[in-house]
Amino acid sequence: MHRKPVIAANWKLNLSPTDAKAFLQRFLAQVPKLNERTLVFFPSAITLTTVIDGLRERPEIWVGVQNVHSEAQGAFTGENSVLMARDVGARVVLVGHSERRHVFGETDEMTTRKMSLIVQGRLTPLLCVGETLEEREAGRTAEVVERQLTAGLAELDAGQIAQILLAYEPVWAIGTGRTATPADASEIHGVLRQALVSRIGEKAAAGVPILYGGSVNRGNASQLLAASDVDGLLVGGASLDPDSWASIVRA
Ligand code: 13P
Repeated sequence: MHRKPVIAANWKLNLSPTDAKAFLQRFLAQVPKLNERTLVFFPSAITLTTVIDGLRERPEIWVGVQNVHSEAQGAFTGENSVLMARDVGARVVLVGHSERRHVFGETDEMTTRKMSLIVQGRLTPLLCVGETLEEREAGRTAEVVERQLTAGLAELDAGQIAQILLAYEPVWAIGTGRTATPADASEIHGVLRQALVSRIGEKAAAGVPILYGGSVNRGNASQLLAASDVDGLLVGGASLDPDSWASIVRA
């Protein structure tokens, strides 16, 4: 099955609404509609509507949120909800990003709950999995990513699983300048693909894009994208500069 590559920018806690306007002006001038790629921006919640407004003429580009709360609504000061994200036009939600897990203490149980809420809210989850350096050195990579995947999918049925996006982001590669080799990425993407096959069958599993993230830049993007079972990129630091991002999306 053909999987259109998904190239996603995770801006994390960077780029204000003012910065985003200037970014889009410069980026969009360089990048015409790309039929063979799906582009996604994940701005901060405060910058979200500016980016959505800035892309009104480019509806082929998706916008998502970096996080949602694990309850639908209520007394949760500081949080954002699935329905609010959908209301302003977001289509995708990052779930289980390594910074959520390791900086904010997000548990597997929370990712289970969030995945379920997002799917019920008719948004597309982009579930992130990845091992720490310690787990990798202990030979536990496959076990860790399979555990995180199992938690993320726990409350989804086969039809819902077939619609998700998945990302492998080794924690030791995020923001460190140390990238997984294309062969490393292919190996773990293959593990994830098999885990999907066992749940939803070969054909449906083949349609789930699995993105790689962790120190992707304009120098390594095309090699990573060419690796087997790598169906896209989730990029942090190198997505903050419009010129660098424009060259990555065309890699
Ligand atoms: P870097 O590209 O800065 O390593 O970040 C990767 C990431 O966490 C994307 O979600």
